Amino acid sequence: MNRFEGKVAVVTGGAMGIGAATVQRLASEGAVVYLADIDGEAGAHVVAETEGTVHFVHCDVAESAHWNALTARVMDEHGHVDTLVSNAYALRHGAAHELPEADWGLVLDVTLKATYLGVAALAEPLTAACGSVVAVSSVHAHASMPGFTAYAAAKGGLSALVRQLAVEYAPAVRVNAVAPGPIRTRQWDPVPPAGQAEEAGRTLAGRLGRPEEVAAAIAFLASDEAAYITGAELPVDGGRLVRLA
Ligand SMILES: NC(=O)c1ccc[n+]([C@@H]2O[C@H](COP(=O)([O-])OP(=O)(O)OC[C@H]3O[C@@H](n4cnc5c(N)ncnc54)[C@H](O)[C@@H]3O)[C@@H](O)[C@H]2O)c1
Repeated sequence: MNRFEGKVAVVTGGAMGIGAATVQRLASEGAVVYLADIDGEAGAHVVAETEGTVHFVHCDVAESAHWNALTARVMDEHGHVDTLVSNAYALRHGAAHELPEADWGLVLDVTLKATYLGVAALAEPLTAACGSVVAVSSVHAHASMPGFTAYAAAKGGLSALVRQLAVEYAPAVRVNAVAPGPIRTRQWDPVPPAGQAEEAGRTLAGRLGRPEEVAAAIAFLASDEAAYITGAELPVDGGRLVRLA
């Protein structure tokens, strides 16, 4: 498939995990990809490993000045932007009475505000290109477990923001979300094998997901194959959320 031939995509948090798999997927289908991340070393690794055209951009997604610089660079080099994948996030654990205010701020800024900043910076080129936005939400937008106060709030807000953006920028720009369940990235490294197996057992698939499986869903939603889909959220969770017992 070459669904992104001639297209330019920006992928945030593209240096690792789901973001890196998305960079590789879009580039393999012909996109020029701008990988926006704060981790230059991991970003350089993805650039070196990916066949196709990938540029690393140092961008803290919580900083509007970084978004403005990124937008100026992409427009200068290509003159158009077709796809934004808003994937970067921050995670700090704690119940409300345990969570420092600064941690709440960090999680909300990187996980939620960043999508507003990215769309604000890229609205004009995305509209001109009749492009699309895919945000990476989470099952935590819809169901909870202890310790995820800020993350759940941010992802719940992100799911609502995606619907709002879809309404706001229609019909030119489609805006959708994916909601991953447990996906084997570095997030899961600290969880002992027994904990991983327990979580896998809570999915209908009986296993943790792979970053490439989320990237495939993101690529579909970003592509013209999803031309009649906007304001939607696609679970990529192995059935994690529909399981009662
Ligand atoms: N892995 C899972 O189980 C899972 C489950 C549900 C949702 N998600 C969501 O998927 C997305 C990706 O998760 P992952 O597991 O691949 O993460 P990851 O930790 O493997 O990668 C996250 C990337 O984001 C970058 N990043 C962090 N802060 C940044 C900032 N301020 N500006 C720019 N880049 C920044 C990191 O450098 C890293 O490259 C996140 O939105 C996460 O909430 C993941």
